[in-house]
Amino acid sequence: MQSLQEKASEWSGVDSADAFAIDNTNLFQKLGLQTFINLSTNFYNRVYDDEEEEWFRSIFVNSKKEEAIQNQYEFFVQRMGGPPLYSQRKGHPALIGRHRPFPVTHQAAERHTAFFLVAGDELKNQNGRVPCKHGASK
Ligand code: HEM
Repeated sequence: MQSLQEKASEWSGVDSADAFAIDNTNLFQKLGLQTFINLSTNFYNRVYDDEEEEWFRSIFVNSKKEEAIQNQYEFFVQRMGGPPLYSQRKGHPALIGRHRPFPVTHQAAERHTAFFLVAGDELKNQNGRVPCKHGASK
């Protein structure tokens, strides 16, 4: 049977080795807490304002926006090398189980990813610039 990682790699088109390259850098140290807060705020602002695709917005109907933002940025902070804020508050992330109540279909994943990319782009206009050696002169 295909492992979850193999499936994620096949469906996303991202090689596992490339995905785990995030562990080669401490992104929390490079980007700082405010960047993660901004990223999740930008993301969930898009989700909760989504008037084009009601089915997507409805996946989040039982979650409060402020809590969803905090859940997400605390998780990313701890996964990207920062303090374990998420686990201190909520325990093990156990994301498979926590997503089980929601219809995380391919279509939902596409829209989730699209909003995430926009949320990332918006960071460029916030909090000064995102420190990244490749974009240092931009
Ligand atoms: C693929 C499409 C996805 C959908 C449709 C989806 C949907 C949701 C929904 C509806 C929630 C509940 C909001 C809340 O109360 O926090 C949630 C929570 C969360 N999601 Fe996702 N998610 C997706 C992918 C991801 C990915 C890729 C990650 C991270 C790698 C992620 C991380 C989280 C985290 C950390 C929480 C908070 C869990 C909790 O504390 O209960 N999600 N997600």
